[in-house]
Amino acid sequence: MIELPPELESPPVNWTRRHLLDLESLSADEISTALDVAQRFKDATQDCKVKLPVLAGVTSVNLFFEDSTRTRTSFSLAARRLGADSVEFSASSSSVSKGETLLDTAKTIESMKIDAMVIRHRSPGAPQMLAKNLDCSVINAGDGPHEHPTQGLLDILTIRQHRGSIAGLTVALVGDIAHSRTARSNIWGLKKLGAHVIVCGPSTLVSKQWEKLGVEVSHDLDDIVARCDVLNLLRIQFERQYTRPFPSVREYALLYAMNRERMERAKENILIMAPGPINRGVEVTPDVADGSQSVILHQVNNGLAVRMAALYLVTKASR
Ligand code: CP
Repeated sequence: MIELPPELESPPVNWTRRHLLDLESLSADEISTALDVAQRFKDATQDCKVKLPVLAGVTSVNLFFEDSTRTRTSFSLAARRLGADSVEFSASSSSVSKGETLLDTAKTIESMKIDAMVIRHRSPGAPQMLAKNLDCSVINAGDGPHEHPTQGLLDILTIRQHRGSIAGLTVALVGDIAHSRTARSNIWGLKKLGAHVIVCGPSTLVSKQWEKLGVEVSHDLDDIVARCDVLNLLRIQFERQYTRPFPSVREYALLYAMNRERMERAKENILIMAPGPINRGVEVTPDVADGSQSVILHQVNNGLAVRMAALYLVTKASR
């Protein structure tokens, strides 16, 4: 256990939100504050390894209605390393199977004196609905294809650590943009901090409509790869697709997988990112995923710092 650094004794004055539901509604200043607090936690806890009991007495619950490895585990560890109690809720073994509604389930859990509810749900807007109806803080851990704000923050934190700042960088999000909550959160966050964002993939997964969000649309990875500072390779979300948006996985990989040949045409210091889980050989070849420019596991570690910051900010702001 280590001493609490003075800058973490009270939350930043410009953070007043009791919930973290999206990056769309956050200002650039609030996003920078969340990143700064995450970085402070990372530094103060030696890469999120050492306990810092800043949330002693706080209880958070992970309410996950979809599968997760990274997000669930890191929220749980983040809470514990900050001295909070963390409770796991498993939809498959709960009374949801007996017909209980999401709101009744959430209110039941809240009445056990919960301070923060972390929710992942397949329906866009589920966290917003809980935030309107509960007294505890709500953090969106992914609502269908809508947003995944802590993923957006950890991706941006990783870029900031490696490049110093976000403004002026060209960041391409490649893959299944249509079904990606990570893409939406990245777009909002990166644009607010001054990046040029490209969304790239087959036209069945990347429509021209995305230009309305102020991003560049491309259907040709080979055309854009040389001018990108960062490639964030998004998973093809087969489970959210009702029809196959490309003729075969092999054809998708030929056109859009980041591989050694494309790396030779990329900037020498390009960052290769993926929110995970990755389909090896589909969005990225194993040699690139595990290569020297890959920061995929840095993203995972930053997930702990960002989720420490999220739990701290929303629970301290609500007291
Ligand atoms: N990136 C992400 O949300 O991963 P999990 O589904 O494993 O949480």
